[in-house]
Amino acid sequence: MRITVLGSAAGGGFPQWNCNCRNCAGVRTGAAKAKPRTQSSIFVRNDVDIDGVLFNASPDILEQIRSHPALQPARAVRDTAIAGVVLMDGQIDHATGLFMLRERGAPLPLWCTDPVMQDLSEGNPVLRVLAHYCGVQRERIVPDGSSFLVPGVAGLGFRAFALDSKAAPYSPHREAPVPGDNVGMLITDTASGRSAFYAPGLGAITPALFDIMCAADAVLVDGTFWTDDEMIGLGLSKKTARSIGHLPQSGVGGMIEWLDKLPARTRRLLIHINNTNPILDEDSAERAALKQHGIEVCEDGMTIEV
Ligand code: MLT
Ligand code: MN
Ligand code: ZN
Repeated sequence: MRITVLGSAAGGGFPQWNCNCRNCAGVRTGAAKAKPRTQSSIFVRNDVDIDGVLFNASPDILEQIRSHPALQPARAVRDTAIAGVVLMDGQIDHATGLFMLRERGAPLPLWCTDPVMQDLSEGNPVLRVLAHYCGVQRERIVPDGSSFLVPGVAGLGFRAFALDSKAAPYSPHREAPVPGDNVGMLITDTASGRSAFYAPGLGAITPALFDIMCAADAVLVDGTFWTDDEMIGLGLSKKTARSIGHLPQSGVGGMIEWLDKLPARTRRLLIHINNTNPILDEDSAERAALKQHGIEVCEDGMTIEV
C-alpha cells in the first residue's frame, strides 16, 4: 500500500496563524530549519489503483488536494480519487474539511464511530449542515477490531480500535470518555499481507494496543507534544498533553519508550505534530534524539510504501 501524508501537523497547523512561539516565528522568518505543515490527514491506496481512502477531512483539504494532483485524476467533468472518508475522531482538525467536499453530486461515503457521529450531529453539527448539500452516506465503525472494507478501494482491509485519547471540547462526552471517541486503525494490504497502524491522537498505550502495534509493519502515531507540560511551559495553556489525549514523546512511559520496544523491522513515524514541538526544528537536539531511536518525523507530501 501507499500512504501519502497530506497533513502532518496537529490542530492549528504549522505555523499557526496567531502563534509566535520559537518554531512558528522561526519557520516564518527562516531562522529555524523547519517545514510548514498542514493539518492532520493521510490518503491510502493499494499499490496500483488511483482511488483510495481519505483519513480525516482536514480544514486544509482543498490546499492538500491542490498539492497532490493524484487526488484529482480528471476522468470526468467532476472527479476525485477519494472513494471514501474515514474519521479517527470528531475534532475540528479532522472533521471540518467535510464542508469543503460539499459540491459532490452524491452523498459522501463516510466511516465513523457512533460517538463521533453524535459529536458531529450535536456538539458540532457538521453532518446536519452537510445534509443541505451533498449529505453523507454514513457507514458505522465499530471500534472493537472488527474488519471493514471501503467499496471502490480493492485490496485494503481496515480494523479500528478504541483508543485512550480525548473527544473534542464540544463533545457531550469530553470529560466522560466512551469507546470510539478516538480510534486507531490497522490498515492491511490483502495482497502483500503488510499492514500499517495509524493513530494521530493517542493518549495512552495499553498492552492490548501495543500487541496490535507490534503486528504492523509501520506505525504512524501521535507526535503532538515532546513533553507533557509543553504548552504550560510556554504559557500557552494550563493543560498537560496527557489530559488532552496526547502521549508525549519524552520521559518515563512516553512514546519513545514504547516505540523502542517494537520489533526491529517496524518503521516508526510520528504524525499530528503540534507547532510547539521542538522536533519540528530539524537542527534541534530533540530531533537528533529521535533519529538515534530510529524514529521518523512525518512531513506533508511524503509517501510511505508499506
Ligand atoms: C487535538 O488533537 O487535540 C486537536 O488537534 C485540537 C484541535 O484541533 O484544536
Ligand atoms: Mn487533533
Ligand atoms: Zn507556535
